[in-house]
Amino acid sequence: MAIVVSPSELQTLEDCLLNKSNNVALHTRFRALFTLKALKSEDAVRIISKGFSDPSALLKHELAYCLGQIKKTSALPALEAVLRDASEDPMVRHEAAEAMGAISDPSSVPILKEYLTDSERSVRETCEIAVAKIEWDNSEEGKKHHASLGESSAPLYTSVDPAPPSSGLLRGTRKEEDLGEDAVERLRKELVDTNLTLFQRYRAMFSLRNIGTPAAVDALASGFADDSALFKHEIAFIFGQLLSPHSVPSLLQVLQNPQESDMVRHEAAEALGGIATPEVLPHLREWMGRDDAPRVVRESCQVAIDMWEHENSGEFQYANALGTTTPITVP
Ligand SMILES: [Fe+2]
Ligand SMILES: [Fe+2]
Repeated sequence: MAIVVSPSELQTLEDCLLNKSNNVALHTRFRALFTLKALKSEDAVRIISKGFSDPSALLKHELAYCLGQIKKTSALPALEAVLRDASEDPMVRHEAAEAMGAISDPSSVPILKEYLTDSERSVRETCEIAVAKIEWDNSEEGKKHHASLGESSAPLYTSVDPAPPSSGLLRGTRKEEDLGEDAVERLRKELVDTNLTLFQRYRAMFSLRNIGTPAAVDALASGFADDSALFKHEIAFIFGQLLSPHSVPSLLQVLQNPQESDMVRHEAAEALGGIATPEVLPHLREWMGRDDAPRVVRESCQVAIDMWEHENSGEFQYANALGTTTPITVP
């Protein structure tokens, strides 16, 4: 289902995202970005690709994420340029590599392979997962899985994930016993088993997300003890999808830990903004204003407070940068 906007609405979104007036708040720019992401069009790719000269790593990593989710190969040159730019923030380069994995064009494999030895751990780990994902997408199991997605009802989560759920938990192959306590414990063991590849551990992670019970949330939270920032930030991201109040204590711990990597704390802040229970707001306000917090953490809290307010406002749609008076038309 395509979403259509007029050329002037598109211009409004571009001006807002790229902050042409120089006075657009960051969280408002985020809403414009997510509106563009929902358009899924070549125009959206073109506009989002223009934003990579911005000083905010937070904004840029989100641009890369959205380009991956739109899934158009026209975004690949911009993403490749970001990955190749060693002076760019590692969080942004990571997201560019992950987006290349999401778009899943085989032409990206040799480029991603060049960065398997990058000096930034989060970049090389992302490239490892992205290569494995593109190879899996083109495997027998992957092709069958993608064909089955087109056939049946709406998926649990609409995101393009960096890894599919484990084999037994792919849609169509799932049985009741795959969702019980034994399954959760088996998946938890896979999740924390550093002898497995990151891709395999990610598959366990996304299986646990799809199970989504409090026990699965606890199993996922045990991954916060890992030493890979990439791995931990993905768990926080998943908590932002699951929106389970059960994950709040572990997310607050991550947000409040100055020893934790910015990327992980950023995802924890945004997950808390999405969960939006009353007790999280004072913490988000605190870290948005703390002078000793890294910029990415402060900005993430700003965006998270906007998400929190949206969740508690009864507003219909978060990605509403065109305002309620100009609804997006869905033909
Ligand atoms: Fe990420
Ligand atoms: Fe993020």
